[in-house]
Amino acid sequence: MKRANAKASLLFAMTVGALAALPSQAQTRPPSSSGIEVFSDLRLLRAVGASVLAQDARLGLGYARLDAFQIGRLVRFNHAGGKCAGYEVLPPAKPGFLSTTEQRQQELNALAHRAGRDMAWSRVGRREMRGAQDPKIAQALTQLEENNLRQFVGWASAFPNRDNRVENPNTHVEALAAKLRQLGASLRAPIQVDLIDHKSTKQKSIRVRVPGTSRAQEVVVLGAHFDSISFWRGNAPGADDNASGSANIFDVLRVLLAQGPSARTVEFYWYAGEESGLLGSAEIAKDAKANNRQIIGVLQLDMTLFPGNGEMTIGNTNDYTSSWLREKLVGWNQTYALGARIVDDRCGYACSDHASWYRQGYATLMPFEATMDTMNSKIHSPGDVVSNQLSFRHSMIFSKIGLIFAMELANSGERQPY
Ligand code: BES
Ligand code: ZN
Repeated sequence: MKRANAKASLLFAMTVGALAALPSQAQTRPPSSSGIEVFSDLRLLRAVGASVLAQDARLGLGYARLDAFQIGRLVRFNHAGGKCAGYEVLPPAKPGFLSTTEQRQQELNALAHRAGRDMAWSRVGRREMRGAQDPKIAQALTQLEENNLRQFVGWASAFPNRDNRVENPNTHVEALAAKLRQLGASLRAPIQVDLIDHKSTKQKSIRVRVPGTSRAQEVVVLGAHFDSISFWRGNAPGADDNASGSANIFDVLRVLLAQGPSARTVEFYWYAGEESGLLGSAEIAKDAKANNRQIIGVLQLDMTLFPGNGEMTIGNTNDYTSSWLREKLVGWNQTYALGARIVDDRCGYACSDHASWYRQGYATLMPFEATMDTMNSKIHSPGDVVSNQLSFRHSMIFSKIGLIFAMELANSGERQPY
């Protein structure tokens, strides 16, 4: 606890530093419009004495401008004893007719509207969750390899860091792209590996496209952030956060390619700059929406190695996700006898890349390694390395979820029914 507090106050000190470095904006604006604009959990905002300027009670989400002191307290109150922000820094509001606060209220209303449709669907009542096994999927599941996860995570966490803010933020990105091209060549699979440039960071995201046969315009997305961060600015091995999810989808890709093509297109993403504010995924999802792309479902795997609530217990994140897919997850666990105990849980804020897609109106799913109250306290530090506290057996559940997600959704005509 003491250590966690020390870390939180370090973050606090960094925030104060960042504020001090800001131009004299604070002096020229009235005090009410200074501070860092955030969305965060209403309870957290109240706990730190922030004045909530806009809110949605059903979402439990509020908008406030926080000073460095309040941010420090909020971080400390949040889960993981100050390891996770617990808030989302908002991009500047657009100049125009509406005031900033009105714009924020509109954003909250839009989110609440989406969440309302999700909640309505889950209230409809119990649907049969267990389905018939697809023998092809059952067979493919046996091809996933625990050892491949071990190898990938060992490899990725050996980079000193994968931070998007360093001078050469693409060393590990290019290395993974090379690995992916090699995989495609060795399986003689028709895949396309692209590096995606971003406006908000020099780091690139990676996209692998596996073209569909009969419904190629319809796309199933699997993603993981491949960057890492350390508040110490020392090494950021990011084994659990998030070499783990990156490894899961890498192995899913391997097995999927061996199955031959699906009806729908499947895209795999290793996102840039998640730790600096969902940078890569925000641009990618926004682009998808602007181009009217038909994205059927988006799976996010972020932290899959630490069995905080016991091996085989996983969280089913219920904010910024679709209840259609959350229910599917429960069903797949039964149908394919995955043996997971699935617990409903929430982040309370836009905590990973699924939120970028959800914001643009797409259906998302984010299964998580543990419940929030038992999560890995080593993340965002040089201590996030492979150790006997991590379980590759546990992580295998997520490879299985990923493979079922890809194969089920890419070989059906199903869509979110609301
Ligand atoms: N993997 C974390 C998110 C996470 C942590 C989810 C703990 C559930 C439990 C992610 O990489 C992260 O750190 N996100 C940031 C937010 C982002 C918008 C900068 C965070 O939570 O501080
Ligand atoms: Zn993280």
